[in-house]
Amino acid sequence: MTSAQRTSVEPTDDATDVSARAVSPAVQHDDGEQDARLSPARLDDFVGQPQVRENLSIAMQAAKMRGEALDHVVIYGPPGLGKTTLANIIAHEMGSTIKVTSGPAVERASDIASILTGLQPNDVLFIDEIHRLNRAVEEVMYSAMEYFFLSWVVGKGLSARSINLRINPFTLVGATTRYSLISAPLRDRFGSVFRLDYYSDEDMETVVRRSGRIMGIESEDEGLREVAIRSRGTPRIANRLLRRARDYALVRADNRITGPVARESLDRLGVDARGLDETDHRLLTNIIHKFNGGPVGLDTLSASLSEDTSTVMEVLEPFLLQQGFLERTPRGRVATRLAYEYLGWPWAGGGSDPNQQAQLFH
Ligand SMILES: Nc1ncnc2c1ncn2[C@@H]1O[C@H](COP(=O)(O)OP(=O)(O)O)[C@@H](O)[C@H]1O
Ligand SMILES: [Mg+2]
Repeated sequence: MTSAQRTSVEPTDDATDVSARAVSPAVQHDDGEQDARLSPARLDDFVGQPQVRENLSIAMQAAKMRGEALDHVVIYGPPGLGKTTLANIIAHEMGSTIKVTSGPAVERASDIASILTGLQPNDVLFIDEIHRLNRAVEEVMYSAMEYFFLSWVVGKGLSARSINLRINPFTLVGATTRYSLISAPLRDRFGSVFRLDYYSDEDMETVVRRSGRIMGIESEDEGLREVAIRSRGTPRIANRLLRRARDYALVRADNRITGPVARESLDRLGVDARGLDETDHRLLTNIIHKFNGGPVGLDTLSASLSEDTSTVMEVLEPFLLQQGFLERTPRGRVATRLAYEYLGWPWAGGGSDPNQQAQLFH
């Protein structure tokens, strides 16, 4: 890495609102409206994830040929990679209606019962954050998924009675960022499991190009590529950064996203050449400076950043781990050699090199 590629993002010691970051994979207030236009409606327009696309396509064709509802599907992966989009594509391709709810929104067994009894044959029921369904609701789901049959108890004590009802065949599409938190009995009742992965730079370019076309943006390939590379393998972030670059091009350049325009606009947003922002820099610099590169325990690291441990583990770390800037070792978090080089600090080598540590165990 040359020093020219180094970035001017300066870390500070204050905690930031991580959900407001330009590179946050979570939905932000101005994402929603545009997303509807940008979301592919057909499987053919869904970029990347070839294995998921192929397996899903075969399962859907087979279900259609048999004239049955598609078997229940669970989709998991980090936020912003297309879980909700895929659920809508499934409904669209199967020619069925989609009903949408989420784990925390369904509180009682009677709530899920009324949703299930309202389904038409072969409808898609999409339950987002399905790992957050409570126990009572889950228990109603088991026989509903397996036999299209509902059985639940109303009332308590002597006045308790059980209600049994047949419902229409349907397809449950569950989405989650935390597959391991889905209970085993629920997990077993899904016919297929699809895992979405961070997109490659090439696939991200395709996403950005497609969105640029839909939004009618004037651009050069180099500009779109720059947006793609800085979007952390996440289409939701790509669409957001593309909109910000478009605004910048309109106000500061001649309404055209060229390479330099994309770089300038994203630098100003605090998104560096590899999609890291100030919060990422702060985390890595903390490990390097305050903890001598690590290993440092999650609790200690989180306290030094004034962040919750869950925010650090679930929001801040995944991208850095995936990019190889950070390693989780049995003794704690370690900044990798790549992190030192990228941030422009001399690599001291030695005990905190996770590769060397790994060799010691062999
Ligand atoms: N494979 C893809 N191809 C093109 N655009 C995509 C793809 N996956 C996601 N997107 C875009 O990213 C946005 C976020 O996707 P979404 O399905 O809401 O993610 P998730 O539900 O996993 O958080 C969508 O609105 C869509 O515009
Ligand atoms: Mg979603």
